[in-house]
Amino acid sequence: MNDPIIKTESLRFSYTNAEGESPVVLNGVDLQIEKGSFVAVLGHNGSGKSTLAKHMNAILLPSGGKVYVAGTDTADEEKLMEIRRTVGMVFQNPDNQIVANVVEEDVAFAPENLGVAPEEIRRRVDEALQAVGMYEYREHAPHLLSGGQKQRIAIAGVIAMEPQCIVLDEPTAMLDPVGRADVLRTIKQLNRTKGVTVVIITHHMDEAAQADRLVVMAKGKVVADGTPKEVFQNVDDLKAVGLTVPDTTELLWQLRQCGQDVPLDALSDEECARALYDLLNP
Ligand SMILES: Nc1ncnc2c1ncn2[C@@H]1O[C@H](COP(=O)(O)OP(=O)(O)OP(=O)(O)O)[C@@H](O)[C@H]1O
Ligand SMILES: [Mg+2]
Repeated sequence: MNDPIIKTESLRFSYTNAEGESPVVLNGVDLQIEKGSFVAVLGHNGSGKSTLAKHMNAILLPSGGKVYVAGTDTADEEKLMEIRRTVGMVFQNPDNQIVANVVEEDVAFAPENLGVAPEEIRRRVDEALQAVGMYEYREHAPHLLSGGQKQRIAIAGVIAMEPQCIVLDEPTAMLDPVGRADVLRTIKQLNRTKGVTVVIITHHMDEAAQADRLVVMAKGKVVADGTPKEVFQNVDDLKAVGLTVPDTTELLWQLRQCGQDVPLDALSDEECARALYDLLNP
């Protein structure tokens, strides 16, 4: 395994609620995110995914255990800027992430705050907008763009900080299918061509299926971890923690329940079609 860009050790966390109670939200999470990898995090509502994500760039600090970003303990206050530069965050609602009235000013906002020199900002903004396919919109007003376009602007803003890792918390939840596909393609390309480590939290099984690795959370713990093919084959276990599986896996699983001999790991549409063809043409 390459060096981990993010490492959690026995991570525990509780929020204190209005009644002064502190229910445990993360209950011993040991996770290593390898540099350059593309990891999807799945889990039922309330399983602790967003809380885990916020530990990945020191928005939250552990109540117990440790989190390291590129080897730096996130509890080290003096390293906060360094940690934020290393790991960028993208959230669900693009409207809450737009800060300027012109696209290129919006993308320039974060690097300006980091004190990057003006000519270097120009280069980064152009490059980031090209990377998300929004360069021709650089002089547009962000609020007039579609949800998917706004989300790609938000991603460009994070890219302009040149982080080693981007953590996206349900970035496609508010988008239509076209916007979702555009955003996912953008993220995949960043990972494949620029080597940016990606951690994406999603409720969409088809998005999760495209990751190199899946981490499944339930009740503040990691309950499954492996390639999409490995994880999705455990259909009963996933259903037990309130998750569905991709349509391809569900279809094959149902056929197996009826006694048909089909492989459960035919995850892509093409593989699934081949498995059905083989079943019909023995
Ligand atoms: N700011 C907060 N104060 C108190 N409790 C919180 C806070 N944020 C989250 N929680 C609680 O922590 C638990 C985990 O929440 P978290 O947002 O991490 O889950 P999640 O897996 O991201 O869920 P979802 O799929 O709905 O986004 C939930 O029980 C939630 O109610
Ligand atoms: Mg969440």
